[in-house]
Amino acid sequence: MDLEQIKKSAINAINNASTAQDLESVNVKYLGRKGVLTGVLHSLKDLSIEDRRKIGSKANALKQKLEELINKKSNSFRELSNKISFGFDVTKPGLKIFSGHLHPLSKIDAEVRKIFLSMNFSVVDGPEIENEYYNFDALNIPANHPARDMWDTFWLKSKNNPFRQLADSGQKSKLLLRTHTSPVQIRYMEKHNPPFQIIVPGRVFRYEATDMSHEFNFYQVEGLMVGSDVSLANFKFVVEEFCRKLFGSKVQFRFRPGYFPFVEPGLEVDIKLEGGGWLEVMGAGMVQRNVFDAVRYNPDEVQGFAFGMGLDRLAMIKYKIPDIRLFYNGDLRFIRQF
Ligand code: DAH
Repeated sequence: MDLEQIKKSAINAINNASTAQDLESVNVKYLGRKGVLTGVLHSLKDLSIEDRRKIGSKANALKQKLEELINKKSNSFRELSNKISFGFDVTKPGLKIFSGHLHPLSKIDAEVRKIFLSMNFSVVDGPEIENEYYNFDALNIPANHPARDMWDTFWLKSKNNPFRQLADSGQKSKLLLRTHTSPVQIRYMEKHNPPFQIIVPGRVFRYEATDMSHEFNFYQVEGLMVGSDVSLANFKFVVEEFCRKLFGSKVQFRFRPGYFPFVEPGLEVDIKLEGGGWLEVMGAGMVQRNVFDAVRYNPDEVQGFAFGMGLDRLAMIKYKIPDIRLFYNGDLRFIRQF
């Protein structure tokens, strides 16, 4: 066989080897002690000097080339067998694992609870399906009163509604999705006597168009503290303490008069963080006498303050989120930043 033939058949054999053993026998056949190419190299000594030089360099180059090809192929067999024995390619980079974590609204909710618990408030909740009495009438917002327009309401068809029993106070009262957490003030006072201090975190609903600062469902925290001499000064302390714990010690405050039927006087609280502008964060006031009447408290014997704030808004301020809709659209690229 001349070198060209040896080259052809050896390369062919290497390409056709489908197992490590095949490859090993090709190796032995051409490069082994008694191999074809080894034979050629041995017989060089019988040639003339000129032939020896010519054929010798070709034969050596071929030997190197074959060794290279065999090595390469044998490496690829080794990788393959690694993959098979581990069940996967151990040399591939791993996939990034995302661990679950709390939604920014859950985080702010937990923080708000913690701060109020530290001030000796209790956490209370109430139904999301409410009736007209608790959501409006008992809060001094009678039917046909223009103040009802402050809350765009999702009314529920109550005929045969399975939830009717759950939410109905027993009187003929239309069902709705609560527009604020304030009805829980009434529910709580009906069952408890002062003094007490509670917060009510919960979900509320508004029948209105969405934009960057409005959603048709969002979260509020209601607060209510009632006793024999609870005053606006107490309110001011509690709310300032709360905001400093949530936003840091440099918060500034502005208390403005505001109107809500269930408080008198009513006010709105603005805060200002370092480098920012004034932001309205809550409505509040001293509980209106009619509200105490509705729960059979004597308005001459007790007094207290109430407040309500948007949890979403607190989260937007704290985490610098520009659009309330981000909380609800399920975009993981947003959620994973928290
Ligand atoms: N319920 C009011 C709202 O959703 C917020 C509010 C204002 C709650 C004043 C209060 C309060 O308890 O005293 O717009």
